[in-house]
Amino acid sequence: MRRMAEPYRIKTVEPLQMTTREERQKAIEEAGYNTFLLPSKVCYIDLLTDSGTSAMSDRQWAHMMIGDEAYAGAKSFDLLQEAVQEHYGFPYVVPTHQGRGAEHLISRILIKPGQHVPGNMYFTTTRLHQEMAGATFHDVIIDEAHDPSAEHPFKGNIDLDKLRALIAEVGAENIAYVNLAVTVNLAGGQPVSMANIEAVRALCDEHAIILWSDATRLAENAYFIQEREEGYADKSCAQIAKEMLSHFDGLTMSGKKDCLVNIGGFLAMRSEDILLKARELVVVFEGMPTYGGLAGRDLEAMAIGLEEALDDNYLAHRIGQVRYLGQQLIDAGVPVVEPIGGHAVFLDARRFLPHLSQDELPAQALAAQLFLESGVRSMERGIVSAGRDEQGNHRYPALELVRLTIPRRVYTDRHMDVVADAVIECFKNRDSITGLKFVYEPSALRFFTSRFEKLA
Ligand code: F0G
Repeated sequence: MRRMAEPYRIKTVEPLQMTTREERQKAIEEAGYNTFLLPSKVCYIDLLTDSGTSAMSDRQWAHMMIGDEAYAGAKSFDLLQEAVQEHYGFPYVVPTHQGRGAEHLISRILIKPGQHVPGNMYFTTTRLHQEMAGATFHDVIIDEAHDPSAEHPFKGNIDLDKLRALIAEVGAENIAYVNLAVTVNLAGGQPVSMANIEAVRALCDEHAIILWSDATRLAENAYFIQEREEGYADKSCAQIAKEMLSHFDGLTMSGKKDCLVNIGGFLAMRSEDILLKARELVVVFEGMPTYGGLAGRDLEAMAIGLEEALDDNYLAHRIGQVRYLGQQLIDAGVPVVEPIGGHAVFLDARRFLPHLSQDELPAQALAAQLFLESGVRSMERGIVSAGRDEQGNHRYPALELVRLTIPRRVYTDRHMDVVADAVIECFKNRDSITGLKFVYEPSALRFFTSRFEKLA
């Protein structure tokens, strides 16, 4: 097979800092073994997140200069709205400062206290906003998604039987909406098939239930459909994305991922009623309905990035780069979530560190160790991220993962080689890695600011 290089050339560079092991030892201790608390200047290759870490194109930067900073009626809003109409097929858009701003608004609009929201696995901020609006979240993803080694081309799919059972149990009128994420972040960046989206839509129609999408990584999902689903090989990712979105009543978007910007998000919808309610709320929490907490230049960059992210060559390299890293780890016997997903390679900390119980926070410990060894920053996505239930007990997720998240258009494939070497080195020395315990734990979204100590 012909190799593919980065489909861009580099016009501006940001030098990277290299550190000594002693400096990293001091830094990770000061950060309480939480990679979120590390200063970025000590992170040689920063794979904490793909959120807001993209490199913008020359065209996006050019548009930053012509952003309209008017308080009301900015023409930059029109540009964004036209891009959403053309590429996503929704008539209405309400910008927000980022994805969780949109989640906040839609949860308040659609949820009545006591209602239920099914979704394909949870995302941290999404579930919290649903719960804060009074809903109970239900995971209705297929079982394979909870098994890191189960091979399935569309591991993000909703299990229709689980969804049917929930509807029968609580009654359709008590389901605020179904929230379908494309791709599924915490399952490992796993996609949802077009057939599954259509089937969920049909089931929602049968019961008059609203179908919403967390479309944060929709471009990556479209690529997997093109690659894996019959009948889509000859369609462009842009066409596939638009077809996917045609089945939804609306979406929340974190522009920090598949709109290739450093900040921004939005709600898009078909209903004028929901639009009016969103406009009423956005002025309270975010800003005027034509800027929603963003600068005009941010709206411009998002409008351009939204289109660039749907380019077939960009996506082929993007997904290919993630897979390139993942394959090196698989070849070395490192346990990872398979198949490799869209935005990240997820290390399976249970199999990586079988000598640690989940209470010893294996994924958190592994992320800290990887940083210490190499300066590569990753993120825990396991028991710490899952938080506590209403009774105050830890939630014990089936997946105990470390996420190596690849920023878009930022690192070269050579950086991926260095990351692979670092992980393989940790794997060789895995027996020496010890567990962690909490020494500080906040009440909500604890993974961001918790502090830990090494177990003796
Ligand atoms: N939905 C998904 C699937 C996400 O991955 C994120 C953010 C959000 C919603 C919230 O968007 O950050 O713009 O408010 N994920 C980031 C991550 C933080 O690192 O996975 P936001």
